[in-house]
Amino acid sequence: MCESRAPLIRVLLVGCLTAALPAATPAQHLDSLLARMTLEEKLGQLHLPSANQRANREQLDLARRGLAGGFLNVHGREAARQAQQAALAARHKIPLLLGLDVIHGYRTTFPIPLAEASSFDPELVEAAARMAGREARAAGVNWTFAPMVDIARDPRWGRIAEGSGEDPYLGSVMAAARVRGFQEHVLATVKHFAAYGAAEAGRDYNTVDMSDRTLRDIYLPPFKAAVDAGVASVMTAFNDIGGVPASGSAWLTDTLLRREWGFDGFVVSDWTSVLELLQHGVAGSRAEAGRLALTAGVDMDMVSGIYLDSLAALVRANRIPLAVVDTAVKRILRAKVRLGLFTDPYREIPAPNANAARALARRMAHASIVLLKNEGNVLPLARSAQTIAVIGPLADNQLEPLGPWHAQGRRQDVVTVLAGIRAHVGTSAQVLHAAGCAIEDTATAGFAEAVAAARRAGVAIVVLGERHDMSGEAASRTSLGLPGVQQRLLEAVHATGTPVVLVLMNGRPLILEWAAERVPAILETWFLGVEAGSAIADVLFGTVNPSGRLPVTIPRTLGQIPLYYNHRNTGRPPSDSDKFTSKYIDVPVTPRYPFGYGLSYTTFAYRDLKLAAARLGQRDTLRASVTIANTGRREGTTVVQLYVRDEVASVTRPVRELKAFQRVTLRPGESRTVELRVAVADLAFWGPERRFVVEPGSFRLFVGPSSAEGLETRFEVR
Ligand code: NOJ
Repeated sequence: MCESRAPLIRVLLVGCLTAALPAATPAQHLDSLLARMTLEEKLGQLHLPSANQRANREQLDLARRGLAGGFLNVHGREAARQAQQAALAARHKIPLLLGLDVIHGYRTTFPIPLAEASSFDPELVEAAARMAGREARAAGVNWTFAPMVDIARDPRWGRIAEGSGEDPYLGSVMAAARVRGFQEHVLATVKHFAAYGAAEAGRDYNTVDMSDRTLRDIYLPPFKAAVDAGVASVMTAFNDIGGVPASGSAWLTDTLLRREWGFDGFVVSDWTSVLELLQHGVAGSRAEAGRLALTAGVDMDMVSGIYLDSLAALVRANRIPLAVVDTAVKRILRAKVRLGLFTDPYREIPAPNANAARALARRMAHASIVLLKNEGNVLPLARSAQTIAVIGPLADNQLEPLGPWHAQGRRQDVVTVLAGIRAHVGTSAQVLHAAGCAIEDTATAGFAEAVAAARRAGVAIVVLGERHDMSGEAASRTSLGLPGVQQRLLEAVHATGTPVVLVLMNGRPLILEWAAERVPAILETWFLGVEAGSAIADVLFGTVNPSGRLPVTIPRTLGQIPLYYNHRNTGRPPSDSDKFTSKYIDVPVTPRYPFGYGLSYTTFAYRDLKLAAARLGQRDTLRASVTIANTGRREGTTVVQLYVRDEVASVTRPVRELKAFQRVTLRPGESRTVELRVAVADLAFWGPERRFVVEPGSFRLFVGPSSAEGLETRFEVR
């Protein structure tokens, strides 16, 4: 993990602290401010109402009375200035946190986080987050509700689109990268704490129940990585874990986050999740819900309004210690000091150059595309001398590539696949276009035109998938095929005999067995943002060689879910020769495409896996080297992945765990030896004594281009 930028925010913060408060230390200043605040003003700092781009009259009035700690959904210079002015008119002139869901871009929409994770390129992901943070700050936003780091093993859950997929290590690397990137300009929020991605049956907001071990080993590491990277705030989740709602869990927010991990920022609830403690059935009144959340350590109440309207009476009745309120208020004030708001509440930085932002979005989109299949080298396409049919409801669609969260992203800024292809071929090829059907309709009247276009063409690019709002929040699905009649359209185009390239746009893994078996070329593009069409055309024509890798497993059938690469072995691992082993009688146990998988237009050979030392102590670092050769005819990038398997331990361990990766770009014929390192301490797991341990013993080690392949060796830990 690159640590180089991590201290930057701290340096900035310290700079702000001294600039803002020259006469007294920050702690003294905050204490004296706190001493002058009324109880209502204190509770006001813990109150986070939602606006509709601008604060309304009532909300501005609240700010003028010092009864709001911030707003969410106020953005744009004017609106931000107006809100800050209102807060500065209050007695204590405490500026506002202005929070927004800047998830994958503010004005320039980047690929969705799941797509960005496919890049396995944390530096690029960090740059994208930095750009998003900069655009947001230029529009008055000083706090983003990102990164979302929920591990997701169930593609029915629509919010899989917002995270980095199924793997704790990849998720941790991406979490830290995004925190570093965002926090150069705004405060970041790691969410949703915790285990929200494990909603039963993939149904959003559903209950979660899991072992302590799975929580520690799989779901929590990306949060810990964000905390270690200096994230300023943590958002609690909507779900309960084994009967304890996350927004009222003292164990999560106090014991684990603050005491064990040393988190020193503030905790915000999710939207009305404090109020929802009533629905969960752990509080019988608004006041009780508020008391539960605040005393658990949830400092700021998003939208419910309960802290402000119901907690003063409880404090006065000694049912909530005043010290609990004071501590929460101090955390919020410290965040404002960190941002430099007391020195310069408006902090109007210039918006970044729009072309530079788009160029970065295009690079990010290139790196996010995963080539799933390329039989007979259908791709890349020749630029000229052929007629190209561009078919499907997503081929010329400017809305869907923006994905489920797009802040100020605008559809008119989106380059569609059709436009991208036209820009590439100019007049050297004829481009035919037919939508064929709508994304979800049952109407097939457009099929004839699509089939006719395919018949006239040398190749059919068929762009299919989901609407942008079929993933993201409250968008769980129980069938993961192509919506509407898109599958039938694909079959009709395929039946013409014209070679088909399937371009998928979707926010989650789809189950596409028919296509995987029959369509010669498939590109998984997720939702790539404003530069979707340009980036896809760059890949289709080979200007860019695809290098993305799957951050999630793609199952063969819905019935296999949850399916993930880092599963445990069981006492009866699947075997073809023995019926009584862990498998299905109607479908192979393996996925359609495994985690870490993705093709290139060139080929790579991996050889000479060597360890610097095969016997290691607890404080050592494993060093594995491998030589990679580009054995094809184009320059290309492979993602070298290192996995381990702890062979014998006191508890059952995953069959493989990703521990390191590296992108390696090679010219044709070039080979390079690369070294990957893993600290032995990072092999730790949640042991039987309920603490992290690295147990001595032997480990298998795999280095290869996906979780299902690779060279193998072994090493010992003493
Ligand atoms: C609810 C979502 O769960 C959360 O991710 C988001 O940040 C808030 N709403 C604020 O919009």
